[in-house]
This record gives sequence, structure tokens and C-alpha cells, in this order.
Amino acid sequence: MSRQDILDSTEEGSIERQLFEKIDISRLPAHIAVIMDGNGRWAKGRGLPRVEGHRSGIASVREIVETCARLDVPILTLYAFSVENWKRPRSEVDVLMKLLKQYLRLELSTLMKNDIRFQVLGRLSELPGDVVSELEAGMERTRDNRGLLFNIALNYGGRAEITDACQRIVNEALACGEAPKIDEAFFAQRLYTAGIADPDLMIRTSGELRISNFLLWQIAYSEIWVTDTFWPDFRKRELFEAIIDFQKRDRRYGGIAASTRSTA
Ligand code: IPE
Ligand code: IPE
Ligand code: MG
Repeated sequence: MSRQDILDSTEEGSIERQLFEKIDISRLPAHIAVIMDGNGRWAKGRGLPRVEGHRSGIASVREIVETCARLDVPILTLYAFSVENWKRPRSEVDVLMKLLKQYLRLELSTLMKNDIRFQVLGRLSELPGDVVSELEAGMERTRDNRGLLFNIALNYGGRAEITDACQRIVNEALACGEAPKIDEAFFAQRLYTAGIADPDLMIRTSGELRISNFLLWQIAYSEIWVTDTFWPDFRKRELFEAIIDFQKRDRRYGGIAASTRSTA
């Protein structure tokens, strides 16, 4: 996958091509995380049942995964189902699980072809058995791929992840009979994202200005980009807009602005 693939997949003179040409390929975010929101409202606006929004959202997932792979973005994390989403009607949850299974079954060959490694973040064991088998098969098949790392946050909660990490630390301490010295690096190694760089860019679709329990620990210094576009309408174009905006940010990490650094 390469820059050439993007040029091949965008028409000369199109908005996508113009946006792509504004991206500095040497300064891409190493990890993009996305809160895929607004499927229900997308469907409602068209007089369709909510689940039709979820169905249409799959095409956006496909395009964003493929575009990140082509750009050589190292890590993409998509928030697909939160621990709080079980509050939704049973019929909607069932469709979401079914779509997930279908997506994996249909996309596995594309993931393999594009050297994409697939991983799940979340409490896997609480998901239906048939979904877990499909997810495990996907992770196993793509395990040795070395291109894009594609994480799906599923039955995921930021607070659940932090409490799970605490439980792991306690269990380890009990097993070895010794209280560990805990620092940030030690703690991060017990999260679902152990070994994965924090997101540089966090995108939320459909205009809501909240985090909804996503990657609470990891987004400490992520740049946030929110669009009013609903997830089923989110494509390359919006992704490129987010990256261009990201590249204009001055990431200070508590320090001072880049423009004043040399004169300070
Ligand atoms: C995002 O769309 C998908 C999931 C949370 C699973 P929503 O279903 O939340 O759509 P809205 O926010 O109700 O429009
Ligand atoms: C966040 O969206 C969860 C996912 C995208 C999976 P929600 O639609 O569940 O968030 P709230 O309820 O608007 O905060
Ligand atoms: Mg929502």
C-alpha cells in the first residue's frame, strides 16, 4: 500500500485528490481513533429504521480501514460497541452483532491482502459465543500481518479497562506475593492497549462534544477533531480533512508554543 494507491483511487481534480495533496505524508498521526457515531440519526433522517444506519456504516468502516492502510497510518482504532450500548433494544444489539460477524467474514480476505492486523479491545468474554469465535479467528488469521494495526473497540469502556488493569495488577501481586511499584508505564502495560502508542488524533462523527467512555487513559494528549457528518457519510474526504487539521495543531504537551520556543 502506498501514496500511489491513494492517487490511483482518487480522481484528478476531485476534492479528495486536492485534500490528499495537502497532507504531509511524513507527519501523519501514528494512531487515529474514531468514535463512529450518528448511525441512528442518519437513518432517521431518511425515514429508515436505526439498524439501516448501522448497515450503511459498514461501507465507511471499509473505506476508512483501507485508506489508513494505503496512507501507511500505523494504527487505527474504531469504537464499535461500548459497555453502555447493552442498554439499547435487544433487536438493535442483535443486528449490531450480526453485522460485525458478517463484516469480519466478508473482509478477512481484504485484511489479509492488505497486510492488516486485526485486534479487539474490550471485554471479549461477555460477547455472544459465535461472535467471539469469529473475532478470534480474525485475530488468529491476521496475527502475523505487519501493515496497519486495526483495533475494534467492542464491549469497550474506558473505566472498565482501567478497573480491569487494576484487577490484573492485584492478581499479579497476589500470585508473586509482592506489591509492585506502580508508575505510568507499568500501568499502561496492563491496559487492553499494552504496547500500542496513544492516539495522536481522535475523531468523533455526528457533532457530539463528548468522549463517551472511550480510551480515557490514552487520550491524555490526543488532538480532538469533531465533524457534524454522520458516520455512514464519513469517507476519505472527511478523514483527509481531519488529518490536514491535525497537521496544523501545535502539540505542546504542557510546554510552550513552538513559535515561542526559540526565543524563550
Ligand atoms: C453509532 O451510532 C453506533 C453505535 C454506537 C453502535 P448510534 O447508533 O449511536 O447513532 P445515534 O447517535 O443514535 O445517531
Ligand atoms: C459512543 O456512541 C459509542 C460508540 C460509538 C460505540 P454512543 O452513541 O453510545 O454515545 P452517547 O450515548 O451519545 O454518549
Ligand atoms: Mg450515538
